[in-house]
Amino acid sequence: MDGLERLADDICSAATAVAFTGAGISAPSGVPTFRGDDGVWDKFDEGQFTYGRFRSDPEGFWEDRVDLQREMFDEAYEPNAAHEALAAMGRGGDLEAILTQNTDGLHGDALESVLAGSATEETNEPTILELHGTSRRVRCTDCGKRTAADPIFERAADGERPPTCDCGGVYKPDVVLFGEQLPEAVVQRARSLARESDVFLAIGSSLVVEPAASLPRLAASSGSTVGIVNLESTPVDSDADVVLREDVTEVLPRIRDLVET
Ligand code: APR
Repeated sequence: MDGLERLADDICSAATAVAFTGAGISAPSGVPTFRGDDGVWDKFDEGQFTYGRFRSDPEGFWEDRVDLQREMFDEAYEPNAAHEALAAMGRGGDLEAILTQNTDGLHGDALESVLAGSATEETNEPTILELHGTSRRVRCTDCGKRTAADPIFERAADGERPPTCDCGGVYKPDVVLFGEQLPEAVVQRARSLARESDVFLAIGSSLVVEPAASLPRLAASSGSTVGIVNLESTPVDSDADVVLREDVTEVLPRIRDLVET
């Protein structure tokens, strides 16, 4: 049995299988990754996107954030075969949760279309936990109102910097910025899913930032079968049971096919 077959086999017998994803899963959809060749942090200074800068220089922060958002999300982008495979395994009850660092909303889109395509069948709905929030919304820092990001980014691009809510509060992208705490409840949920999991797949992430680095290790130390699917090596490879250095769009549909047969 090769590594891929072992993962599929373990997913079939698992009570709880969990997927954790990073920018690499959305790269085949045209969303750039952060690190590596053509990574966003080669073109932009990540030090300009901190919570501290948002507070002290909201105008400059928004100016740069408009450029970053254009770089990442200007193209029309759609879920790819890897998002679809995870969504299908979730619908089939083989995957309990998808934890993601991505803020692009593509797991939600894939699940929506997979669920829409199976209205008459009995379906499960996996938990999707967006650890770093979502780029599709902004949130008022005063009244807490959340609203669609696109029109607010357009206002910022047209010169309203920082863009403000009806209440006068400053809008902030509804994502976790550098220097900002991840919501405690979300981190706790992710950690308990990693601990509970019988299989934990880390997909398309360099696994260098927290909590990405510690979740697969936590799963491994709790006895989970840990699989890593990534084009490059990661610092967590030595803790994993299976490492597949292949494209996510090759590996995940094959795992799904084995799990579904
Ligand atoms: N198939 C498999 N792996 C891929 C593919 C692909 N088609 N394309 C890219 N990769 C891999 C790259 O080799 C790289 O190791 O995906 C990984 C993406 O790593 P990062 O760009 O570091 O993304 P991620 O781990 O999600 O970053 C974590 O860092 O800056 C922050 O907040 C940002 O959420 C982000 C966090």
